[in-house]
Amino acid sequence: MIAKQFIDIKSPLTDEVIGKVPAMSREDVDEIIQRAKNGFKIWRDKPLHERVEYLYKVAELLLEHEVELTSLLIKEVGKDQKSAKSEVVRTADLIKFTADTAKNMHGQNINADSFPGGNKGKFAIIKHVPIGVVLAVSPFNYPVNLAASKIAPALVSGNAVVFKPATQGSLSGSFLAKLFIEVGLPEGVLGIVTGKGSQIGDYIVTHCDINFINFTGSTEVGNHIAKEAKMVPLLMELGGKDAAVVLEDADLDLTASHIVGGAFAYSGQRCTAIKRVIVVNEVADALAEKIKEQMKKLKVGNPVEIEGTLDVVPLINEGSADFVEGLIEEAKIKGAKLLCGGERKGNLITPTLFDYVTTDMRLAWEEPFGPVLPIIRVNSEEEAIQITNASEYGLQASVFTTNMHRAFEVADKLEVGTVQINNKTERGPDHLPFLGVKSSGIGVQGISYSIEAMTRIKSTVINL
Ligand code: NAP
Ligand code: G3H
Repeated sequence: MIAKQFIDIKSPLTDEVIGKVPAMSREDVDEIIQRAKNGFKIWRDKPLHERVEYLYKVAELLLEHEVELTSLLIKEVGKDQKSAKSEVVRTADLIKFTADTAKNMHGQNINADSFPGGNKGKFAIIKHVPIGVVLAVSPFNYPVNLAASKIAPALVSGNAVVFKPATQGSLSGSFLAKLFIEVGLPEGVLGIVTGKGSQIGDYIVTHCDINFINFTGSTEVGNHIAKEAKMVPLLMELGGKDAAVVLEDADLDLTASHIVGGAFAYSGQRCTAIKRVIVVNEVADALAEKIKEQMKKLKVGNPVEIEGTLDVVPLINEGSADFVEGLIEEAKIKGAKLLCGGERKGNLITPTLFDYVTTDMRLAWEEPFGPVLPIIRVNSEEEAIQITNASEYGLQASVFTTNMHRAFEVADKLEVGTVQINNKTERGPDHLPFLGVKSSGIGVQGISYSIEAMTRIKSTVINL
């Protein structure tokens, strides 16, 4: 394959070109998918212990390249030093854990005689077999971790993978994928497709030789892919509007500290960021004050100028900053009370807190993917639940209360994939189930869940 065109990748921190990736054509995509199809026939027949060993080697190699990849992540997606390094280390752990898990997963044997009329001489042997060629599409915000969380479970199960990284993130994503290839995968088993999703995306997702799509990204693109892909099975993690529900008996210091950590890390560019606070009136004044106090501790700046830990960094591009600014301006016009922040310098938006946000404001419902947090005051627990559930999204929610009985009652009523009790919303650790309901996703990720999702059951029935 000889690419004719390239896409410049610029750093969101300096606007400098830091690398380029091929803008692949349909013919390139055909070739990569065909190679994956051929590679699959060899890979699926490898004994599991060989596939597992291979993942351990990738994890080791990744740690050897920690410094290089950390530096690339900082430049390409604007993470601070600490978050970038932690993404690399977390990913090595994820790959190792995937290998450990796959070794210990087993099939099943179902006896027919448990069903009325069944006899002892009949039983089904249930195996989990690979699906074929898995298309893995990752977003910009975790270019390494959200690539590995698809590639590793797909490969260990015997699938071939075609990996399409987000364009902003494709240098880091390709760096990781090349390590997978470098340790000696059979030819074609993992292929990398680069190019803008808007140009080449539809062609890949509708390709007749793609057998499964594992996608993480926005609800808008996820919806579009789901329509295009028709009968191809999907595993999708999409957008969110995670609520922190705060009841009158919450420990407000702990609550404020989790809310600020959850809302502003990596400038809120996380699907699981806390994106609204829903608090009962009795404690709203006190909570708002404590959140504002905690926000003073946030470190704000540009990772190329300040080494170490930063919470709020420039957003990924100008369009994202414009979008967040639009939400801020509308909330101001509609009468929300700005408690702090709201300023913009280039693509850096200062951590912003609004109180008295009402349900007629976009900020109450839309996912900013930026450092702006609305406080919505409610009269009761019931109203808090009603507003949480009125969102189109259903990724995660937090409940803050010191009454465990009440925490479980509220958790049961929330229409989300995961409820965190007295903690911020978050995906990790990576072996826990991670899923969104409503517009937040289809299916369940998390190491063993992803392995299961990317295999299918093959039943062979013995009749003695
Ligand atoms: P995005 O714009 O939806 O892009 C995600 C991926 O889809 C990118 O690789 C993109 O490629 C690709 N793509 C775009 N159009 C496509 C098409 N027609 N066919 C196939 N692929 C296509 O999302 P993002 O801006 O990278 O990430 C932010 C969003 O992702 C937020 O909404 C966030 O909540 C969500 N997210 C969710 C989770 C979760 O686990 N729930 C995790 C992280 C992020 P290009 O970059 O080339 O356009
Ligand atoms: O952006 C979405 C990620 O899946 C969030 O992961 O909660 O570990 O930051 P995280």
